Amino acid sequence: MQIDGFQIYPDYLDRSAQTELISSLRGLVAECPFYTPAMPRTGKPMSVRMTNFGPLGWVTDKAGYRYQPCHPETGKPWPAIPAQLLDMWKTLAHYPHPPEACLVNHYTGKARMGMHQDRDEMDFEAPVVSVSLGDTAVFRIGGNSRKDPTRSIKLHSGDVLVMGGPARMNFHGVDRVLPATSTLLNGGGRLNLTLRRVNLPS
Ligand code: SIN
Ligand code: FE2
Repeated sequence: MQIDGFQIYPDYLDRSAQTELISSLRGLVAECPFYTPAMPRTGKPMSVRMTNFGPLGWVTDKAGYRYQPCHPETGKPWPAIPAQLLDMWKTLAHYPHPPEACLVNHYTGKARMGMHQDRDEMDFEAPVVSVSLGDTAVFRIGGNSRKDPTRSIKLHSGDVLVMGGPARMNFHGVDRVLPATSTLLNGGGRLNLTLRRVNLPS
């Protein structure tokens, strides 16, 4: 299903694939816990908590947005991206090199994410592959310019979204997460995993 250039695969992961993924995430998150990121310049805390897997992770703090190899609080390297996610990238990304980062966003309560473009990567030929788990998100999609009209769609647990091609630079954000819409996560909330290629292939 194509919406404004974004490719959406509803229910790409069935319930057992979602449960399998969650059980591998649990072990990894114990190694690299969620932390509260801060906005560039102001240092204002974000409402979404984050961690990463892979050789690089996306972080933000007063100094700005960047990719770095270590967790900002523990100083340890991020753990490897689970094989299940690497397989999904192979199938869906249509890009000949592996992802280098998997950003994990955890939404609870009133957490949201403002409209933005994913533009901290060097290689915009590679798409961003995004997996939704847990409660349903009201996800907002715009165009390449902040002024373009926007529309919202719902992303459910197990849905996969590919932001690539002409839509790679489309604005997007999460208006809110609808509580108690999934039983996948103990304690509710939503996890979003985005697979990203950061560097140009050498
Ligand atoms: C993001 O754009 O990094 C997050 C998208 C989402 O949570 O669905
Ligand atoms: Fe994004």
